[in-house]
Order: sequence, then structure tokens, then C-alpha cells
Amino acid sequence: MKRRKLIRSAGLLGSTLAVAPLAHSSGVSTGSGPKGVEKNSAFLHGVASGDPLQDRFIIWTRISSDDAGSGPLHWLVASDRDFNNVLRQGQLTVSAERDFTAKIDVAGLQEGRQYFYRFVFAGEQSPVGQCRTLATKNHLSARLAVVSCSNFPAGYFNVYREIAKDPGYDAVLHLGDYLYEYGQGGYATENAEALNRVPFPQTEIKSLSDYRKRHGQYKSDVDLQAMHAAHPMICVWDDHEFANNAWQNGSPKEGDESNWLKRKNAALQAYYEWMPVRENSEHGINRHFRFGNLLSLSMLDTRLKGREKQPNRKAFTLGFQQDREMLGEAQQIWLEEQLKSSQDTVWTVIGQQVLLSSLNTPDLNGIADPEGDSMFARYRSRKHYKNTISNSHYGLPLLLDAWDGYPKARERFLKLLSKYGKNHIVLTGDIHTGICSEIPVPGEETKKITELVTASVTSPGLDDYFPSLPDKSVGEAFQQKNPHMSYINGKDKGWLDVNFTKENVEANWKVVDSIDSYNYNVSTKFTKTVQVQS
Ligand SMILES: [Fe+2]
Repeated sequence: MKRRKLIRSAGLLGSTLAVAPLAHSSGVSTGSGPKGVEKNSAFLHGVASGDPLQDRFIIWTRISSDDAGSGPLHWLVASDRDFNNVLRQGQLTVSAERDFTAKIDVAGLQEGRQYFYRFVFAGEQSPVGQCRTLATKNHLSARLAVVSCSNFPAGYFNVYREIAKDPGYDAVLHLGDYLYEYGQGGYATENAEALNRVPFPQTEIKSLSDYRKRHGQYKSDVDLQAMHAAHPMICVWDDHEFANNAWQNGSPKEGDESNWLKRKNAALQAYYEWMPVRENSEHGINRHFRFGNLLSLSMLDTRLKGREKQPNRKAFTLGFQQDREMLGEAQQIWLEEQLKSSQDTVWTVIGQQVLLSSLNTPDLNGIADPEGDSMFARYRSRKHYKNTISNSHYGLPLLLDAWDGYPKARERFLKLLSKYGKNHIVLTGDIHTGICSEIPVPGEETKKITELVTASVTSPGLDDYFPSLPDKSVGEAFQQKNPHMSYINGKDKGWLDVNFTKENVEANWKVVDSIDSYNYNVSTKFTKTVQVQS
């Protein structure tokens, strides 16, 4: 599809649902401060909504004019896209304290209704956004677009564009890595210059000002803006909104605890300023949504809230460091309360970051290309990559940052899930690879929990880490080694389209065949249907 057609097709969402007048060619320096903005619009970063409940949802925007803090910003919520019937409105003043962003929790709305919102600043109207409140009882269906790992320099957000064009989603679930912290020359920036998507700032982000600017760059993307305007988002963070492989009290790059705290707090502040997420005093991202009596959705924090440090591979292989917390006690207690109080829903759904299923490495000797263009070789060393291949015959877990590194915590989590409700679906991101898996519940071998894992929006997948030798398939080798997985696709970028009804859930792994071009095709690579158990 040509770019011009894509922009025009945004009009399908409604005559007043405009995409902010930004071009990709405007580059990366739209920045986040009100000064130095090149474009005329006060709404350079679009609008967004999120965290819909039965009577409320969040609306968000940012003012980019030089005089952003000088006058009132008006907000309006209406039942019609032409704003003839305005139901709620108000005003506030943005300030440098929150980087000129505005977030309102619009309450007093009716359940299960479609609403439209917009902002007005100094006579200029923002693009119009749409959001739908959840129903109390009768949710006949709930359709979710599930995404993760949207890496701006790695490619175009064609996945977001496709989701924006489809009016049928109730919400977009973003399971983390909404942005990446690296600078130019870092992870997945090889094509950034050619794509005009060089990270801004150009170095790895560490300070509050850095994180704000990076959020601003991502939200200057027209496809991201179109998706936010079209659907409410329910998001959780993963590590890259902070730093690679972060855990509760640190990250590999921030050895010193005070350095980590400073960086974490900077990232956290920018996240809350820039994301349409409801804030609470505990700074918790774990929260619960109820789509009538159809489904209960618990969004978890497997990254920062209670996660202990990832195990050391050598010690782990020798049987040590097996019992480490992933959710933490407080979050487990919270989750049990949610599960207990929503046993009357048909589906029990978990949205979380890292792979829950075990993923053992197959013998890749003679299958992966030791001289191929591997991400391991590029970012670690050729030697490390070759060693990984030659040691693969041991069949060890591939990732110790995922639940595989936390086996006792996984057992506790699976048993807790199994205790409440019958029909469990776990939605997962992080691994940049589309996966469909059935996880046996410990102690109840006939009981299985289905895990649906989305591909990345743009980040490199399994096939980029282990390129195959000619006529060999690393993906097939992984699948044979892990028979509980009926689908593994580490090549394609895409999203997960999941539709829940009272009879079944149908999941479609949708893919785009290019992120280097706006000329791309969309297809469905795999479908999984799970029937409800009475
Ligand atoms: Fe990622």
C-alpha cells in the first residue's frame, strides 16, 4: 500500500479523526520541549486514551507551543464525533513540571458506550480521539490488539497503522518495550539513518530530560498517533522503558544502587507523564479490568515490582538460584484478590511481559549459520555466538530473564491461576517472536493454560539472533525441541488479534511483510481457537 493511501485511509476512522499534521520526514528533532518546535501545531504529539473502566477513562495530550503554560487547555468528551453533544468538559494549565503533558481521568460516563474526545488550546483544536467504556454485564465479545517491542529506529510502525485502521478493537494491549533506551549505534539501529529514524537524543537515555525527549520522538510518529487516537491503550512497561534486563533493584548497566534508583525514577516520571495510564500512589503498573462477565484482565508487572535479579547461568545450570521471586509477594496477594473476585467471568486473562512457557534451546549445530549475521555476534561477539551454537546440544533454557529463570515462582504462579476460574489465557510480549503454547499446570498434568505471545512491532526476532544455514530452519528446530508450542515465528513482525466470546477465543497472528518500507502487505500466519470449558 502506498504511503499516500495510508494517510488517506486514516479518514476511514471518521471524518474528524484527523492524523496530526506531521510527516515522517520531519525527522527526529521534534523534541519534547516547547521551545524549538518547528511545526505550527500545538498538538505535535497527538492525543491518546487509556485504561477504560465502566465509568471513566484517561485522556492525554501534550502542548508543544512556546506559550504552552500561559493559557488554559480545554478538554471535551462527547457522544458524537462532531461534538454536538458534549457530555464532559474542563480545563487545566500544563507546566514544565510534567513536561507540558496533560492527563485527565474523565469520570461520570456511562458503561459500554463509545465516546469522542478532543482538546483545544489557544483556539486550535487537537485531533479527535475515540474511546469506549467497558460494560458492567453484557460484553458479547471483546476484541484486543496485542502488541509489544516497538523499536523506533528498527523500522516503520506499519503494525500500528493497521491497528489504527481497524475500528473493531475494544482496546490495544501494549505489553512493554513501548520505547527503547539505546542511542545511535546501539541495538537495532543499523537501518535508522536510511529510514530517517535515528534515535533522539542520539545517545543512550539516562536522565529525565533524555527520557522525555525519547517519549516525544516516539509520539511524533504518525502511525503511533493514529493508533492512539483510534483506540484506548492498556499498557504495562517492560525493561526498555527503563534499561535492558532491569529488575527490582538494578540493571546490568547500573551496578551502583543509587545510580539505578536515579535512572529508574527519571524513566518512571517520564513514563507517567507521557503514557495514558492511570496513576496510583504506589507507582504500580499492575491493575485489573473487567469486560462485563466475559473476561477478567489482570495486567502484571513481571519487571520491576517484585522481580529478583536474574540468575547467573552457570549457577542456575548447576541447580542453584532456582527459587527467585518474579511477581513478589505483594503482587501475588493482589493477583489472588483479583482472581477470587472475578470467578464469575467466562475468561481469566493475564497480560504480562516475559515468556511463561519453557523454551529450551535445540541442538543448533548444523542448523544455525555460525558465520551468519547474528544479533549475538553483532552486539556480544562472534565468539559468544559460536559458543552459544556449540553448547546448544545441552538443551538448556534460552532465556533466564524470562520465567524460565524463575522456575519456582512460575510453579507458584501457575498453581495460583489454576485455583481460580477455568478458562485461562496468558498474553505475553518481550521475545520478539510469535508463539502459541500450552503450559501444563504442575500437579495437574491434564490441565493446560494457553499462552499467546505476540511478535514484535519492529524489534529483531529469534531468526535474527540465529540465522539458519541454507535449507535449514532454526524455527523448526525450536518447535521440535518444544512440542508444547504449536507455533513459533521469529521472523515476521506483527501483532496478535484476539477475539473473546462466550463460546471461544480466536487468536490470529497478523504479520506485515515489511518494516523498511511503507509498501507492505498484511496476512494472517496462524490461528488458534480455544473453546470454552463449561
Ligand atoms: Fe523488546
